[in-house]
Amino acid sequence: KPISIIGVPMDLGQGRRGVDMGASAIRYASLQERIARLGYDVRDLGNVNVPTPESHRVENKKLKYLPEVADVSNQVARLVENQMKEDRFPIILGGDHSIAIGSIAGATQAVKKLGVIWFDAHGDMNTEETTPSGNIHGMPLAVSLGLGHPDLTHVGGFAPKVEAKNVVIVGARDLDAEERNLIKQAGVSVFTMHEIDKMGMSAVMEEAICIASEGTDGVHLSLDLDAFDPREAPGVGTPVLGGVTYREGHLAMEMLAAAHVLTSVDIVEVNPILDVENRTARVAVDMICSLLGQTVI
Ligand code: ARG
Ligand code: MN
Ligand code: MN
Ligand code: MN
Repeated sequence: KPISIIGVPMDLGQGRRGVDMGASAIRYASLQERIARLGYDVRDLGNVNVPTPESHRVENKKLKYLPEVADVSNQVARLVENQMKEDRFPIILGGDHSIAIGSIAGATQAVKKLGVIWFDAHGDMNTEETTPSGNIHGMPLAVSLGLGHPDLTHVGGFAPKVEAKNVVIVGARDLDAEERNLIKQAGVSVFTMHEIDKMGMSAVMEEAICIASEGTDGVHLSLDLDAFDPREAPGVGTPVLGGVTYREGHLAMEMLAAAHVLTSVDIVEVNPILDVENRTARVAVDMICSLLGQTVI
């Protein structure tokens, strides 16, 4: 399929500035050239307009920058839906993880029944009641399941976007206490680092792909770079020790490529300010290439 790159320089969903430059950092790491070299028709649509935090006030401490995040999410949803309806595969570059609210909304409208693989150190299953930070980037998975503020859950005009039985978190190792309860209540599947260590990434991905693709028309991968170990991907706002290795990540992406189930992907939380020689963006590009079917021979 032809590919569309969409940049969303969003940092309103989290406390630390710098993720707004994530999309540029990934482009600087030669994303488009690398994809083109794999033989794809690839088009970069540029960036969605995102307001700067300095020009807006936090009105609600439990939902920081809610109106601005909701507005950007609606723009992203429309763009993603349109690209997918033109039979193109969207790669959405963040920005913080709140951008997944829009990409999942758009993807659902295009494919109807969507499964989600949430590759992340975190669950991003908070709501305004459970959030310890008020940062919306800790909420997008809950929002996609219909839990949270209606301005977020109803992006695109309907909720929920996905069903818990087709949602799976991979790489989790830092969940808030109440968030954990919400994950269990909702019935979302979770493969923590414990399962990855114990079963191996191969068995984990086999099950994860099953969960996300069973009875769905497409699968969205939401790739938070903090799923990776900070040694390999230091440029993220919320690093957590003990993450997925580069090799495990590659294997996971290659298995996804071989399964031919993915219909969209977002790459989030790359923060070049905290990075070392753009390493994290380069990891992101390597992962995307594996995802798109790059092999050694
Ligand atoms: N659980 C924490 C919170 O709600 C951290 C979330 C981190 N999320 C992320 N997308 N990096 O604030
Ligand atoms: Mn996340
Ligand atoms: Mn995370
Ligand atoms: Mn490989």
